Amino acid sequence: MAAPIDNQKSPIANVPRHVAIIMDGNGRWAQQRGLPRIKGHEQGAESVRAVLRAARQAGVKYLTLYAFSTENWIRPKDEVEGLMNLLAGFMDHYEGDLLKNKIRLRVMGQIERLPQKVQKKLTKLMEKSAKDYEYTLIVALSYGSRLEIADAARAIARKAAKGELDPETVNEETVAQHLYLPDVPDPELMIRTSGELRLSNFMLWQLSYAELYVTDVFWPDFREREFFQALEAFNRRGRRYGGIVTQ
Ligand code: IPE
Ligand code: IPE
Ligand code: MG
Repeated sequence: MAAPIDNQKSPIANVPRHVAIIMDGNGRWAQQRGLPRIKGHEQGAESVRAVLRAARQAGVKYLTLYAFSTENWIRPKDEVEGLMNLLAGFMDHYEGDLLKNKIRLRVMGQIERLPQKVQKKLTKLMEKSAKDYEYTLIVALSYGSRLEIADAARAIARKAAKGELDPETVNEETVAQHLYLPDVPDPELMIRTSGELRLSNFMLWQLSYAELYVTDVFWPDFREREFFQALEAFNRRGRRYGGIVTQ
């Protein structure tokens, strides 16, 4: 069992309600050690556990993890299968933990493209965990932000064509209400591991005003300590939303 986290020394004054993470660098972590890429993904699953725990301890209500993008389907079949098996295994192993810790599981993306076995497990756990929860874990799976926005545009157009919605009234709120998880607040903090300075088609709409935190640490090495460091960095940022510094 991991040691309890002592965050008393550096209490986080302003804890973001929603943190989104691009979990990157599993392959390079493995490569550096002369291991197959899948070993990096396996260690990455341990980081998911650690970060879930840290986020809950800090009081983060929503945690979104980018686990598989619409673009990731082009990876070798073996790697895609390995990732899907890891996902299924993760649900088997941590179902109890998720329920005990009142964590609701939600999925954002093309769930219908995932293997049947994975879909079934996800659907079951999403249902079970929605009954009594305090925290929400959102896993972005076969997710692409441009696709999400295009899907929203299509849904809005359909309503307009049916006369259910006046096109003249379409505003930012209308678009936000037609994204995959309209009830979830926008992330205040977006973390990307492994040093890449790009969004890779992740939550383009929702991250409009998020603070971005990029660390060189590869995802398999990103654990409780690194998560708290990100929260501390977030606390040092001055968020202005287009306004001016007031103090
Ligand atoms: C992130 O690690 C996990 C997924 C995208 C599924 P990568 O597999 O992208 O690792 P690198 O970027 O090749 O090191
Ligand atoms: C982004 O990582 C997607 C996930 C973390 C799931 P990638 O490794 O796929 O991103 P690129 O290809 O470097 O932009
Ligand atoms: Mg990558």
